[in-house]
Amino acid sequence: MSSIELKNVSCSYDGGKTYALKNIDMSMDKEGRYSLLGPSGCGKTTLLKIIAGILEYEGEVFFNGENMRDVPIEERDIAMVFQSPVVYPMTVYDNLIFPIRRKNSSMKEKEKKVQEIADLLGLGSILKAQAHKLGPAEMQTVALGRSLIKDAKILLLDEPLTSIEAEKRLILRTKIKRIQEEEQKIFIYVTHDQTEALTLSDKIAVMDDGRIVQFDTKERIYDRPAHLFVGYFMGSPGMNILEGKVKAGRMHFRDFELPIPPEYKEYLAKHGEFKLGMRPENFIFSKTEKKDFFLFNCIDIQEKGEGVRVLYLKSKDGYNELKAVGTFADIKAGEKVWVHFPIEELRVYDKKSEQIVA
Ligand SMILES: Nc1ncnc2c1ncn2[C@@H]1O[C@H](COP(=O)(O)OP(=O)(O)O)[C@@H](O)[C@H]1O
Ligand SMILES: [Mg+2]
Repeated sequence: MSSIELKNVSCSYDGGKTYALKNIDMSMDKEGRYSLLGPSGCGKTTLLKIIAGILEYEGEVFFNGENMRDVPIEERDIAMVFQSPVVYPMTVYDNLIFPIRRKNSSMKEKEKKVQEIADLLGLGSILKAQAHKLGPAEMQTVALGRSLIKDAKILLLDEPLTSIEAEKRLILRTKIKRIQEEEQKIFIYVTHDQTEALTLSDKIAVMDDGRIVQFDTKERIYDRPAHLFVGYFMGSPGMNILEGKVKAGRMHFRDFELPIPPEYKEYLAKHGEFKLGMRPENFIFSKTEKKDFFLFNCIDIQEKGEGVRVLYLKSKDGYNELKAVGTFADIKAGEKVWVHFPIEELRVYDKKSEQIVA
């Protein structure tokens, strides 16, 4: 059993004037696949470096219940892969064996370990090549191999695929996924790419401006974003956000209205204004007028690929705009459509804090 716990962790690079991380509480309570996801500058690398023990911080970090304040990186059972790959100017083979050169095992065992990692990562044919002369994708693979050979309990990966072209990125992503399946470790994967986070983790910490906005399973992050930032950041396109008012026990949006979902009744009895979030995948369409369907104009359509399209819709009198995702083979730009909002897909957020209210 391995665990990492952060308690009220903050970090400032300018002596407390501004904070790159603000009051982070986070618990990774067992081996598994985690990721830190958020826009550039939100604090992902800072958080990873604090876990690695290479940055000063306020608050506490615990591994398996032990306070890590004075434990250096060498004693943390951690391997880290940086965004720009670190390889030594020597052969791939020598790079791979380097982290275990002083290990108390026979040369034969070490060679076997190098061979295993090389096979796993597809480096077998370039073991004799000079690592620093390889292309970025191969160098990144070597860096990954060097971090794996250490056999540490915790593997920290900081945007390892960012500088690699799309096709090779996909291949490497698959390799990382395979390693995750084979190794019992805590994987913490840092990325600004939601597809990578969804592929390579079970739980995602969505970060914004030095805070963790939601740390949850990927299903809940998609289905029940705790904050509109998460709803909008995750998804392609992100969640629809509409401003609404409560009138006569219903949610009003100027040119259409919806019933209040039961779980939000209590909140909306006390708050007259709110924001509504709804995923673009969840609407139901009709080409003709129907009960509980509202008139929208389809103003534009974009192909997303593989037959999936994004519809850009404006409500009857133009007060509300929506995006919808689906195949919609029979809807054309310029047409009228009737849209239904399934009540179980509606999420209500506080107008000011933009936090989900129930
Ligand atoms: N060495 C540093 N000195 C000063 N400010 C830094 C340093 N590293 C990062 N920052 C600042 O801290 C914030 C978080 O940065 P970082 O953790 O690198 O974000 P991310 O990895 O999410 O892009 C940013 O505002 C960044 O400018
Ligand atoms: Mg970074």
